[in-house]
Amino acid sequence: MKVLVVGGGGREHTILWKLAQSPMKPELFAAPGNGGISQIATCVNIKATDVEGVVSFAKENKMDFVVVAPDDPLMLGMVDRLEAEGIKAFGPRQNAAIIEGSKVFSKELMKKYNIPTAAYEVFDNADAAISYLETVSYPTVIKAEGLALGKGVIIAESFEEAKAAVNDMMCDKVFGDAGNRVVCEEFLTGNEVSVLAFTDGKTIYPMVSAQDHKRAYDNDEGLNTGGMGTFSPSRLYTDAIHEECMKNIFLPTVEAMNKEGRTFKGVLYFGLIMTKNGVKVIEYNARFGDPETQVVLPRLKTDLLEIFMAVADERLGEITVEWEDNAAVCVVMASGGYPKKYATGFEIKGLEAAEADPNLTVFHAGTKRDGDAFLTAGGRVLGVTAVSSNLEEAITKAYEGVSKISFEGAHYRKDIGRKKEIVF
Ligand code: AMP
Ligand code: GLY
Repeated sequence: MKVLVVGGGGREHTILWKLAQSPMKPELFAAPGNGGISQIATCVNIKATDVEGVVSFAKENKMDFVVVAPDDPLMLGMVDRLEAEGIKAFGPRQNAAIIEGSKVFSKELMKKYNIPTAAYEVFDNADAAISYLETVSYPTVIKAEGLALGKGVIIAESFEEAKAAVNDMMCDKVFGDAGNRVVCEEFLTGNEVSVLAFTDGKTIYPMVSAQDHKRAYDNDEGLNTGGMGTFSPSRLYTDAIHEECMKNIFLPTVEAMNKEGRTFKGVLYFGLIMTKNGVKVIEYNARFGDPETQVVLPRLKTDLLEIFMAVADERLGEITVEWEDNAAVCVVMASGGYPKKYATGFEIKGLEAAEADPNLTVFHAGTKRDGDAFLTAGGRVLGVTAVSSNLEEAITKAYEGVSKISFEGAHYRKDIGRKKEIVF
């Protein structure tokens, strides 16, 4: 069985690493993949956003199944195009991927179906947005409607900052058309947790919880990044909170998408915040998170390929999905300077020594192969991931792995797994 995974980051390396353990023994391909992925899959030089390129490759090379992992190809309708050619695929269709692609859509969906989220207003005109922002209390939140590489959310501390953000998005178009409309929303206080879920539109199986460290430096200082590390499970996501989320958020979201004629099949990612007034949705993503995937999939007992196929065939309810009762921690090693300017092409040393520990896996995010060596090739370079029976041990093991790896300018946070908790 030939399986193609679209994408080339740490998330895709993790998905392929898990698929490589499938008893179905699939032959694995990646488009475009990366250095680490080339150890377990055939990498083909097609960009993840090249819909027709991926479709032609899949047809010509008779792929039996395609997993579309990143957001942009999902929004571009890659799954729809593959299905139209008779190729089975994992991921939401374009009309369902909009739950991530448009913040206006997702806010209106939540309002219509009473799914708890921050109060908000939508504006398609900068003057109206600015007049409104004169009337709100601060901090307040301004979001570009569309995809903006994770940079489209501004927490404004003052009216001046808010006005500048609206001008950047709506007048100077710093995010292009993604800023044609903005959502102005109430600032919420609480601990954040990510819950990813498999769903075929009939059944939803939430995965184990995770927490992400988004800021570049320790103690949540510095710029926002794609994610500097993750851990699973969250210490705060109790069974009682899970029940509350199932009832108020997860099931209602799946139902809402069905009612809108936009059945969601794939991974639905719930970015949640636990406020004084209950759990609310901060954002939806239409895919696996990165680097949440790196700590969630190593804890999965069930064959991932079996789950993917059950979702595609809408028979998820016929299988069970089981998780290990353990913990995982992923420390991202990034290029010096990330998330701003950084240099690449440095040799990565110590990978073998780190991976000598059977409970440690190094997922490659931005690397390329150079003969037997691996070179840095991106901002986030590696996700050093340890699994253990508990979080404390997983943290220690992950950092033992990190200490064995080096490349010029390497930067990582020292406090992954230890998040400051807000107590009300
Ligand atoms: P998003 O891209 O929507 O996940 O937003 C990025 C980050 O901004 C989130 O992870 C939160 O930390 C923060 N954020 C977004 N919306 C709000 C809100 N309404 N209140 C407080 N923080 C928020
Ligand atoms: N780590 C957050 C995301 O994947 O969107």
